[in-house]
Amino acid sequence: MRQHDRGLTELCAGRVMASLFFEPSTRTDLSFQAAMRRLGGDVVGASNGVQFSSVYKGENLADTVRAAGCYADVIVMRHPQKGASFEAAYYLDKLNQRIDNPTVLISGGDGIGEHPTQALLDMFTIYDKKKTFDNQTITLVGDLLNGRTVHSLAKLIARYGVTGTRLAFVSPDSLRMPAEIMSMLAELGVSTYETADLMDVLGESDVIYWTRIQEERFENPSDYEAIKDRFIMTPSLLSHAKADAILMHPLPRKHEMGTQADHDVLDEDPRAVYFEQMENGMFVRMALLAKVLRGVYV
Ligand code: NCD
Repeated sequence: MRQHDRGLTELCAGRVMASLFFEPSTRTDLSFQAAMRRLGGDVVGASNGVQFSSVYKGENLADTVRAAGCYADVIVMRHPQKGASFEAAYYLDKLNQRIDNPTVLISGGDGIGEHPTQALLDMFTIYDKKKTFDNQTITLVGDLLNGRTVHSLAKLIARYGVTGTRLAFVSPDSLRMPAEIMSMLAELGVSTYETADLMDVLGESDVIYWTRIQEERFENPSDYEAIKDRFIMTPSLLSHAKADAILMHPLPRKHEMGTQADHDVLDEDPRAVYFEQMENGMFVRMALLAKVLRGVYV
């Protein structure tokens, strides 16, 4: 019989994590909560969701995050506004100077900005499957403008320092990787390639990172409608990929992975690693929580 053995330790016993999600989440929220509990720690959150905390009464981010900071040792926050994590960290730091027990802030995603812990779990998954970050063609596909996961992943790959690896960006013209990220990659000497034609790179890709068009970020629904069917991963499309490529997706997925019938076929393909990727999220977040709460280097 297979054992339930994802690990349970007491590394964070007696510590409390506050979950502050101002935006919807399944994987990030649940995996952080599960990670904290598997480390022996506890989790708090506003009983009816953060929207029914004093946020409902009009309290601002700076005060909400400092309230959580008075009760928890670590705060995991997701917010719809780009830069909100920096703002929250700034005010939390001010609180930390006044109280005895400092609190750490971890970003669970800030609007169209960044999703740093997703990048950690994505990197972990790439290494787990490929055993290297070097000499790879890593292809990021979809909404590269609004997708925070691809921003953080591209930056982390560049910062990590890779040799012979090429980042290929495939998107509609209107959803290209932001210019400031492209310049950062250039400064760090990472080789990049941008195209609107997936077929330019699909057959050479070692890592195919598929993403959802971020419908909720579009001001004009007709702009979304015009673009939403541009890149759809299907079993027949995947047949053009290398036999040892891996297909990743941060999830959730909508019709950028076709129909339920397409999902069912893709999910059986050994190249599809998004379920492992999802499980890795919890392990990586356990490591991160242990590091920030206990100084444990893992
Ligand atoms: C992503 C996100 O929230 O940015 N999901 C996640 O955290 N796994 C991707 C998305 O919403 O498309």
